[in-house]
Amino acid sequence: MSASFVETKVLKVDPSSISFPDPETGLPHISDPVTAANIQTAVNLLKLESEPIAFPTETVYGLGGSALSDRASRAIYTAKNRPADNPLIVHVSSLAQLERRLGLKVPEAYTPLLDHFWPGPLTIVLPVDKEKSPVSSVCTHGQNTVAVRMPAHPVARALIALSDIPLAAPSANASTRPSPTRAQHVLTDLNGRIPLILDGGACDVGLESTVVDATVFPPCLLRPGGVSLEQIKEAGGSGWENVVVGKLSAAANEQVRTPGMKYKHYSPRAPVVLFNGCGSNNNGAEYVEKYFKLNSTTKVSGMKIALLTTRFFDQEEINKVLPEGSAFVSQKLGSKGSDISRNLFNALREMDEHEKVDLILVEGIDESNEGLAVMNRLTKASSQIITPSLFN
Ligand code: TXA
Ligand code: MG
Repeated sequence: MSASFVETKVLKVDPSSISFPDPETGLPHISDPVTAANIQTAVNLLKLESEPIAFPTETVYGLGGSALSDRASRAIYTAKNRPADNPLIVHVSSLAQLERRLGLKVPEAYTPLLDHFWPGPLTIVLPVDKEKSPVSSVCTHGQNTVAVRMPAHPVARALIALSDIPLAAPSANASTRPSPTRAQHVLTDLNGRIPLILDGGACDVGLESTVVDATVFPPCLLRPGGVSLEQIKEAGGSGWENVVVGKLSAAANEQVRTPGMKYKHYSPRAPVVLFNGCGSNNNGAEYVEKYFKLNSTTKVSGMKIALLTTRFFDQEEINKVLPEGSAFVSQKLGSKGSDISRNLFNALREMDEHEKVDLILVEGIDESNEGLAVMNRLTKASSQIITPSLFN
């Protein structure tokens, strides 16, 4: 059964008007009255524990409901059409709230990471005693662990602190689609399925949080994201120097530690072709040309082709090797890892939803620093990966 509303309201909020003057209570001061009123509207809806609402975080927009309520948690899965066996991340505004409202304590192994990265784009897996913790078993899918994060975005923190409700919140996209980094992306996917979107502008990080698990030894990185593997090794100290990068994708019927990895993800409607390692010494045109020769059976004449470039691909040189009769639109995601991360999902959606292209070609990057998360998302989004070794 899916909820249906006449309209989804989009209310503007100004993150720069929110400050947190009192570390004791963690409560916000909101200087802009419109922002304060709109956040209060969201708090009131959350307290009903029925339909989820969308709000900005520093990574991507989240779709939040009470993590203490089975009904509210179930409504999140329904709104985004998410498989029920993929558990939700719980968002808190303080460590005190984590203990008081969820009965959870953070194991010492995480302390150095939290000192560096909370609040921020890092999610930790905690053991949960199902008999004692009030966290909803719908939210955790009945597992004996729960993933928790403290977001840095002022709107997210204000919402959680004012409601005093730990929020179960997956990314606010429809399942399988690229995660939303702007309110408009949420509206495109969930219009008529949720009552409210708080519009706090574009997300700064642009990719989801990094998920780490220290309930196992050695600790494991389950999903690369806004905090890099290099940063975790450096800040985590001994114990985290040997962090293992978990398997990052899995078959649908496989038992996995982080269920999200086995689902189709981040996909625009147009097929995505990822060029991996094809640009470091040249402008990419050679490999794009080879790709079209390899796919000579693909109907390309009359196609609209998008090109997303990063560090080496040259848009003009590539335009020269595109099949005759095709239309071309290109965008540079950036050269720096942080820019590429921030722009990636928005660019995939723009090419899909506004440019309505038939095919998206993307230049990959190396997997160091932000590159691990960027390539993880691109690999999942793509239907074909082109590497130089294909042509040896
Ligand atoms: O940046 C983010 O993390 C965003 C914002 C909204 O906070 N949220 C997000 O949630 O990306 P979602 O549901 O799209 O991804 C949650 C990931 C999934 O891969 C899920 O399988 C994993 O976290 N996860 C959740 N609970 C887990 C658990 N107990 N153990 C291991 N993995 C877990
Ligand atoms: Mg997601």
